[in-house]
Order: sequence, then structure tokens, then C-alpha cells
Amino acid sequence: MFARSVKRSVPRRTPSFFKPRFNSTKPTPTTPASGSSKSSLLYPSLFFAAGIAATFGYFKLFPAPAPIKTNSTTKLSDLGPIEYGSEEDFQQAIKEITELLGQEHISTLETSLDAHNDTFFQTHHPLPGQRPRVIVYPGSTEEVSKVLKIIHKYKVPVVPFSGGTSLEGQFIASRSGISLDVTRLDKIVEFNAKDLDITVQAAVGWQDLAEYLNPHGLLFGPDPGPGAHISGMCSTNCSGTNAARYGTMKDNVLSLTIVLPDGTIVKTKKRPRKSSAGYNLTGLFIGAEGTLGVITEITLKLHVKPEQETIAVVNFNSVTEATDAVSAIFAKGIQLNAMEMLDTNMMKCINFAGTTNKTWKEVPTLFLKIGGSPVILKELIKSVKEITKASGATGFEFASTEEEKEELWSARKAILWSSIDYAKHVLNDQNTKAYITDVAVPVSRLSKVIAETQKDLDDCGLTHTVLGHVGDGNFHALVLYREDEAKEVKMAVDRLVERALANEGTCTGEHGVGVGKREYLLKEVGEEGIDLMRQIKLAIDPLRLFNADKVFKIDPTEHIEH
Ligand SMILES: Cc1cc2nc3c(=O)[nH]c(=O)nc-3n(C[C@H](O)[C@H](O)[C@H](O)COP(=O)(O)OP(=O)(O)OC[C@H]3O[C@@H](n4cnc5c(N)ncnc54)[C@H](O)[C@@H]3O)c2cc1C
Ligand SMILES: *[C@@H]1O[C@H](CO)[C@@H](O)[C@H](O)[C@H]1NC(C)=O
Ligand SMILES: *[C@@H]1O[C@H](CO)[C@@H](O)[C@H](O)[C@H]1NC(C)=O
Ligand SMILES: *[C@@H]1O[C@H](CO)[C@@H](O)[C@H](O)[C@H]1NC(C)=O
Ligand SMILES: *[C@@H]1O[C@H](CO)[C@@H](O)[C@H](O)[C@H]1NC(C)=O
Ligand SMILES: *[C@@H]1O[C@H](CO)[C@@H](O)[C@H](O)[C@H]1NC(C)=O
Repeated sequence: MFARSVKRSVPRRTPSFFKPRFNSTKPTPTTPASGSSKSSLLYPSLFFAAGIAATFGYFKLFPAPAPIKTNSTTKLSDLGPIEYGSEEDFQQAIKEITELLGQEHISTLETSLDAHNDTFFQTHHPLPGQRPRVIVYPGSTEEVSKVLKIIHKYKVPVVPFSGGTSLEGQFIASRSGISLDVTRLDKIVEFNAKDLDITVQAAVGWQDLAEYLNPHGLLFGPDPGPGAHISGMCSTNCSGTNAARYGTMKDNVLSLTIVLPDGTIVKTKKRPRKSSAGYNLTGLFIGAEGTLGVITEITLKLHVKPEQETIAVVNFNSVTEATDAVSAIFAKGIQLNAMEMLDTNMMKCINFAGTTNKTWKEVPTLFLKIGGSPVILKELIKSVKEITKASGATGFEFASTEEEKEELWSARKAILWSSIDYAKHVLNDQNTKAYITDVAVPVSRLSKVIAETQKDLDDCGLTHTVLGHVGDGNFHALVLYREDEAKEVKMAVDRLVERALANEGTCTGEHGVGVGKREYLLKEVGEEGIDLMRQIKLAIDPLRLFNADKVFKIDPTEHIEH
């Protein structure tokens, strides 16, 4: 692998960390900083030992064994900077990948680079220079493997890319290099309706999958951002509106085919519903955010669609009453298919944007999906109505036709656009930005944390709306702001995350860590937790080529300030 180690030393173009370092000659970039200082002591003593050995008749001098790392974790300070291949290495890698895939599956067009570089919705944006140089589009697991072998050989930084809808800066090419887009892996591989499972390639979208399954009376649970693909969804452990009933991504994956950073292909399981067979390799790649390799195929669990489903819209005077109602529904053992809460501001935005025919009451509102057979449905609606009324509901309506159902749910689906429309108006700024936050807390803490968050944002004079996947204790505050408010927003978001952690919650319920939440993850799992993740990362990707700087720090010389 290191046979063609680099002879020249090309000067770096920019001193900043995110440019690949093209001055590498060292074959072992992950050698711990402490390790190298140790070996500098080791060698003189070895020569001394060799001298003694020679005196006593041993003539063969064995090379010093590499120091064995005995630690179970890796601290950031144990590492040196990442060392990528030279510019010539990079060009050679691109040449070999082009020969492998054909010119038509490689792109350096500005438009493709833009599309793999940033989106409006991300909370964090690439800094100058943090832009992929080349997009490559392999067409099969085997091609991914061959591409990764080349990338490994020439030590090129790489970021896997699927739908590009992630929100925390997950696919930013922080080290430039290659963006590996799985778009061409868009086939359904095997459908086992009887076993309620399906195997798909990486870039099948959840919306296309829903369309495919619909005629079979089946559904797949997670429903994140429009345009998200199954492999990206695995990589962020996403969820969406249905998670309270059908679980998050981690509950819905039976097996993965993954290609590791050195090109090795691994299939984590066959397709049993349960298994106690060894380490959970599937689980390891759920939520790994492209830092451990490329997912190329996924076997998913499916669910039977409820015979009938309706949407109930329930109004309350306060967020507390709305979340109390949710707890009361749980306490009765009633399973709803979705429980979404939109706060007063959000309802105002929906009215303002006029995306639906109806004018809505501008109060905290629950959107509930209730499903079952016609008889059960009737009973459920009755119970839910009673329970919510006891919790203080001031209004209850449910869809009696398919069109009404569409209309009611469309209000829920339009919230992001509605919020932005509204904010452009009240802020009188066509360049209004949106900061989408995401935290989760135990359900009993939810109303308190939401209320404190709303008050905090009000006190700062910021424009905001709140949306809760309340069944999971998960909520998003959308903060809409002018450029000059950016600092204020960042501080308010900091306080929100601190508040969630102080209430025994998590810094991210479903959007993942990316670059946006690294510091909070450190607070959440502690330094030991992160050091363990780093050790796992290095075991699988010792060259640190894969999506560097995401989830946790992997280079002591990196200081990203977005
Ligand atoms: C309008 C909007 C609404 C949203 N609503 C929700 C919501 O309700 N719930 C929710 O959970 N999320 C939501 N999201 C966030 C987003 O949709 C999810 O994070 C989704 O899972 C990302 O999938 P993707 O295919 O777009 O991944 P990408 O953005 O392409 O990538 C995400 C991460 O996965 C890695 N990756 C991509 N493909 C692979 C692969 N083949 N192998 C290994 N790693 C890979 C990337 O490197 C990156 O780190 C929303 C986003 C938007 C824009
Ligand atoms: C690793 O182990 C060495 C030797 O036991 C110890 O000195 C060092 O502090 C450890 N490092 C970590 C990160 O625990
Ligand atoms: C891509 O990233 C660069 C920073 O390198 C930034 O200037 C540019 O605006 C980004 N492009 C898009 C489409 O956001
Ligand atoms: C392993 O992980 C997968 C995906 O997260 C999950 O569905 C499965 O239940 C896990 N299995 C075990 C035995 O924990
Ligand atoms: C995935 O999400 C589920 C539910 O939110 C959580 O229990 C699990 O720990 C997550 N897994 C990872 C690897 O983040
Ligand atoms: C909403 O208005 C449009 C256009 O007037 C109409 O086609 C549609 O049927 C209406 N929807 C409902 C649910 O009334």
C-alpha cells in the first residue's frame, strides 16, 4: 500500500486546515503523537541493546516492534494532524477513478460542486475552500469498493453523499477532496411482502419507496425531509412524524451492505427479524454520518398500512395542555400513528402563507394520525376526543373525507415554507435565514422545556415557531432571522441545547451531530464516550479519510468556527 510513497514535497496552497495537506511522506499518519516521541527514545536504547546482543553472539537485529497501544480509548491529543496524499496523488486517484467509472460518472462542473457543497436549510455552511473538488458516481457495490481502494491508496479525503437534505452540516466537504454520490444506486433489490421486508440500494428515496409499497398495503415508517435517501437516513438515524408508532431508523433496519474505507465489502446480517449473533454491526453504521464507510444496500422492515386512517386536529389554550393530552393518551395505552404539535406562531404562519384553504385557530394545536379498522377507528376517535377534552382541548375536528385528510396534513407538511414566508414579511427581509434546531427530552419535561424556550426566544426579540414530534419528546424550534441577528440566534440555540441536556435530554433527537452539534455531543456523552467513538473510528478508518471533522474532532490541529 505504501510502496509508491510520495517522493516530492509540494508546498501547501493555503495554510488552513481544511485544504488537503499535500506534503505527506509518512506512511503511518495515525501514529499517536506520544508514540512517536516514545520511539525516538526507543531507538537509541535498541542500539544499545543490539550492542550488548552482538557482544553475546546474537548477530541478527530484528526491527523494533511497533509500540502496542493498550488504551481502550483515543484522546484527541493522542493524534497528530491528518496527512493526505500529495496533489499528484490526488490527480492520479482521479485519473484511475475516471478510467474505472468512465468520464460520464465523474463531475467537476460548478453546478454539481454547488449541489454537493451547501443547502439553504443547513444550520452550518461551508467556509471558503470547504468545497468538494470532484463528484464521483459509482454504480454498484463493487464499483464503490474499487473507488474506495483507489481513494485509500492515494489517501484522498472523501464524503459520502445521498439526498443532501441533512441539516447539521453533515456533508460539508471540510477537507475538500471527493464527494462520493450514491445517486446511481437507486434500485429495489428484493421485495419480500410476506416477510414484511425489502432490500433497496442506497439512493432509493423514502417517498419513492412509499409509492412503491402503497399498492401492496404496506408502509415504511421514517419520513424525514423530502428528497432524503435511505442510506443518508440510516447515516443520521433519522425519524419524522411516524416515529412514535413505527420507530426511528434504527428500529427499521434489518441489515446493511457496507463498503469499508479500504474497500472491503461487509454484509452485516441476512434478514431475520431478531438476532443475537455477535456485535451489532448494523447498529454501528446507524447514525455514523458517513464517518465509517459507505452504505450501499439496506434491508428494511415494513409495516402493514392501517385499514383506515384519519387526521384529528385538536386546539388547546397552552402548550402544557397539549402535551398533557399526549401523556394522557399514552397513559390510556392508546397507540396513535403520529402526534405533532404546532405552536401558536406556527399556526399564524400557516394562515399567513395561505397554503391551505382553511383558516386555522391561532392556538397550540395537535395534529393526530389515528388508524385502524373502521370499527376500531370510530372507538379511537371517541376516546381521543374525550381524553383531549379532559386535558383542556377547546376544539376537535377530524377529516371525514380523503380530501379533508390531505388538506389537514398538508398544513403540517407546509410548516417550513410557511414559517419562512411569514418571517420574510415580518422581518421585511427577502434574505431571511432559518435555523432549524432539534432536541429531545423525556416526555414529562417537554412542556416545560418548550415554554422556557419560547420565552427565551421572545425575550431576545427573535422570530420563531415551534414544531414538536411530541409523542417522542422531540421538538424543533425554527428561528427565522436577519443576518445581523446571527450571533444572537447562536447564543439562544446554545441555551436551548443546554436546557435540553439539563432536563436529561439529548442535543439531537433526529437530525444528528454533523459539525453543528459536536460540542454538545461531548457534553452529552462525556470525554470518555467521545474517546471511545474515536477509537472505533480509527479501527475502521485509520487514515481518517472519511468525512473528517463530523460528529467529533479527529484532528487536534482543526479549529472550525462556523
Ligand atoms: C425540509 C426538511 C425537513 C426535514 N425533516 C426531518 C424530520 O422530520 N426528521 C428527521 O429525522 N430529519 C429531517 N430532516 C433532515 C434530513 O432529511 C435527514 O437528516 C435525512 O436522514 C438525511 O438524508 P439524506 O439522504 O438527505 O442524507 P445526506 O444529507 O446526503 O447525508 C447525511 C449524512 O449521511 C452520510 N451519507 C450519505 N449517504 C451515505 C452512504 N451511502 N453511506 C454512508 N454515509 C452516507 C453523509 O456523509 C452525511 O454525513 C429534514 C430536512 C429538511 C430539509
Ligand atoms: C494510554 O495508556 C498510557 C499507558 O498506560 C497512559 O500513560 C496514557 O495516559 C493513556 N492514554 C489515555 C488516553 O488514556
Ligand atoms: C459553496 O461553498 C462556498 C465556500 O467554499 C460558498 O462560497 C458558496 O456560496 C457555496 N455554494 C453554495 C451553492 O452554497
Ligand atoms: C442492531 O441494530 C439495528 C439497527 O440499529 C437494530 O434494528 C437491531 O435491533 C439491533 N440489534 C440488536 C441485537 O441490538
Ligand atoms: C437512534 O435513535 C434511537 C431512537 O431515537 C436511539 O434509541 C438510538 O440510540 C439511536 N442510535 C444511534 C446510534 O444514535
Ligand atoms: C381547496 O381549494 C381548492 C381550490 O379552490 C379546491 O380544488 C380543493 O378541493 C379545496 N380543498 C378542500 C379540502 O376543500
